[in-house]
Amino acid sequence: MSKSRRIIAGFRFKCGIIFRRLFTLYNIIMMTVIGAIVYVVMIQELEMADDHVTSRLDEFQSAKFTKQALELTSNHKSINKRQIGKQENFKGQTQAVSVYRTSKNSEISTPADRNVIDNMPPMDPPKHLPIIKVKYRGKQSRLKLSSRQVKYITPKKLTNRDVLRALAHPRLFPTSEQPPIQDIKGRIATSLNDWIQANSPRDRHKFLVYSAFWDDRFEQNNNVRILAIMVTKNPPAVFCRLQMSDGKTMDARVVRKVMNEHWKLRYSSCFLSCEVPKNTLPPLKVLVSLNRNFTFSAMLPVHQNKENIASPRGDLAVCVKPLHYSYDRATWLLEFIEFHRILGVEHFFFYNHTVGPNVDVLLRHYISQNIVTVLPWSLPVLSQKEIRTEAIFSSLNDCVFRTMYLFHYVILLDFDEYIIPREHESYLDMLNQLEEDNKHIRGKPGSFVFKNTFFYLYWENDTIAYGVEPEKPPQWVPYFLTQYKTRRLSTAMKIGSRSKFIVVPERVVEVGNHVVWRHTSGSRAISVPDTVGLLHHYRICEFGGFGCLKKDNVVDRTATKFGAELLKRAMHRCRIIYPEMQGQCPLSPPLGSPW
Ligand SMILES: *[C@@H]1O[C@H](CO)[C@@H](O)[C@H](O)[C@H]1NC(C)=O
Ligand SMILES: *[C@@H]1O[C@H](CO)[C@@H](O)[C@H](O)[C@H]1NC(C)=O
Ligand SMILES: *[C@@H]1O[C@H](CO)[C@@H](O)[C@H](O)[C@H]1NC(C)=O
Repeated sequence: MSKSRRIIAGFRFKCGIIFRRLFTLYNIIMMTVIGAIVYVVMIQELEMADDHVTSRLDEFQSAKFTKQALELTSNHKSINKRQIGKQENFKGQTQAVSVYRTSKNSEISTPADRNVIDNMPPMDPPKHLPIIKVKYRGKQSRLKLSSRQVKYITPKKLTNRDVLRALAHPRLFPTSEQPPIQDIKGRIATSLNDWIQANSPRDRHKFLVYSAFWDDRFEQNNNVRILAIMVTKNPPAVFCRLQMSDGKTMDARVVRKVMNEHWKLRYSSCFLSCEVPKNTLPPLKVLVSLNRNFTFSAMLPVHQNKENIASPRGDLAVCVKPLHYSYDRATWLLEFIEFHRILGVEHFFFYNHTVGPNVDVLLRHYISQNIVTVLPWSLPVLSQKEIRTEAIFSSLNDCVFRTMYLFHYVILLDFDEYIIPREHESYLDMLNQLEEDNKHIRGKPGSFVFKNTFFYLYWENDTIAYGVEPEKPPQWVPYFLTQYKTRRLSTAMKIGSRSKFIVVPERVVEVGNHVVWRHTSGSRAISVPDTVGLLHHYRICEFGGFGCLKKDNVVDRTATKFGAELLKRAMHRCRIIYPEMQGQCPLSPPLGSPW
C-alpha cells in the first residue's frame, strides 16, 4: 500500500518537473510560432484543394438550372420529333470563332456577327451543310448503350475513307465552305480548330479553349466537354451558353475538372463541363466566357461524335502529344508510322506546335494519303515554364473524344515508344486475345496498360536485322530504332510508372499520360502481362549522362521480326517523299534534347 503510494508520489514529482520545464517562456514562444506556421500552411493547402476540385465528375450531381434554362428545356419537349431531328452536321472539323465585344450593344458589321449568341436572332440552318436525321434504335450490342438511344444516320452512308478524308487538317485542305481567317481590329478572331483566347487580351491570365464535344454517356445529365487551359491558382468562374439546333439558347452550369499532374505551374489543362438535363438534345455551338454578359467570349462548334456510329468503324488509331521543338527526326517518324501500320494501325492523329522541314513534307505526304490527321496546336503559353509539356493532357483527351465511336481502339503514345506484341503478329490479334482472357472479370475492359522498359540509345547498334551498320555506305540502311536497338533493361517497370495504354475511347472519361484517370462506370483498366506485350521506350538516359547504361540489361529482339517488311515499306515511302535524296531516307540528326 505505502509502496504504491510512494511510486505515485514519485511519478507526480517527475511529472511536475517535466511540466515546469516544458512551459518555460522560451518553449511557449517556440510552440506558438510553430503552431502559427502549421496553421498558415494548412489553410493554404485547403484553399488550393478547393481551387482544384470544383466537383468530382465521378458523382455528377444533378445540376441546378436557372429558371430561364428550365423554361428553354420544357419548350424543347413541345417541339415535334421531326423538327428536333433536323440538325446541322458539323462533322467534327468546323471553325471556332472567338467573339470579342466591348459592349453589349456595340455594332459589329462582320460576317461573324451572326454567330454572336446573346440577343441574337434565331439562325437558319446553313443550306450547304448536310442534314442529319435522328432515328431511335434499340440496344446496340457492341456499345452496350442504355435502352433507348439516339442514333444519327447521315443521308449518304459514309465510308471509312470519307471520314478519314474529312478529318484531314482544315488549313492544308481548305474547302470553299470555310470562312477566311480574319482578325478585325483585334475584336473578332476566327480560328480553325486551334487554341483561341476567350477572355480580354488585357486580362492578367489567359483563358484558352481548344475544342468542345457532346457527351451523353452519363445517367445524371448530358454535357458539353470543353478542353480548356486556365490559371492553376484561383481560377475565375466560367459561364457557358449553348446554342440549340432550334435557334434557342440555353445557359448551363459549368463544372471544372483540373487535370492532375499540372506540377503547380502557372497554367493547367482542364475540362469544363457545361451540364444540361438528360433530355436535352445536342447543341450546335457553345459560347464560353468569364463574364456573365459574355462580353469577351469564345464560340466553339460542338463536335457530335456519335454521328460516327453510322459510318463503318476503324479498328485502330494512334494519338501522339504535340510535335514541338521544331521536331525534325523524319526517319524515326517514318519508322513510327510504318511500323504501326504493319501492326494494323489505320490512322494517326498528331498535333502540330512546331515541326522541321523534313517532317513537314513527310506529314503532308501522309495527310494526302488519308493516313494522318494533323491538328494545329499554336499554344500561346510557354511550354514547361508555364504549363506541363505543351499542354499534353489537353491533346490526349481531345484525341480520345475525337476518335470516340470512330475507332474501336486508340493507342496513346509518344514518338519514341512502341507497344510490341510478344505472341501475336498484329495489335488486333493481341487485343482479341486480351478481351477473351478478361471475359470473366467484372466490368468491360476500358483500357489495356503495358509496362515500360527502356532501350537506351547509347547501347550498341545490333546488326542482326539487316547485317550492316546503319546509315553507312553503300546501302545507307536507315537508322531504325526498333531494329538497331535491341538491348533493354532486364526488368519492366511497374504499371503507372511510364506505362502506356490502348483505350476503348467510349469507355473512358479522362486520360493521363501513363494510365487512364477515369473510366465510365462499368469499365476498367486491364494490366497486360509482360509475356503478351511490352512498351519499348527508345531514349537516352532519363537523368542525363551515361549512368543508365550500367543497369542490368538483356538483348530482346522481338521487334526485329518486322524488320524486313519495315525496310521495304520505308524505302518505298522515302523514294516518293524525298525524290531528291536518290532513294535514301533523311539521316538522323545528332542526339540531344529531348532525345
Ligand atoms: C451585365 O449587363 C447588365 C445589364 O444588362 C449590367 O447591369 C451589368 O453591369 C453587366 N455586367 C457586366 C459584368 O458587364
Ligand atoms: C505545322 O505548323 C507550322 C506552324 O504553324 C506550319 O507552318 C506548318 O505548315 C504545319 N505543318 C503541318 C504539316 O501541319
Ligand atoms: C548507331 O548508329 C547511328 C547511326 O549511324 C550512330 O549515330 C550511333 O552512334 C550508333 N550507336 C552506337 C552506340 O554505335
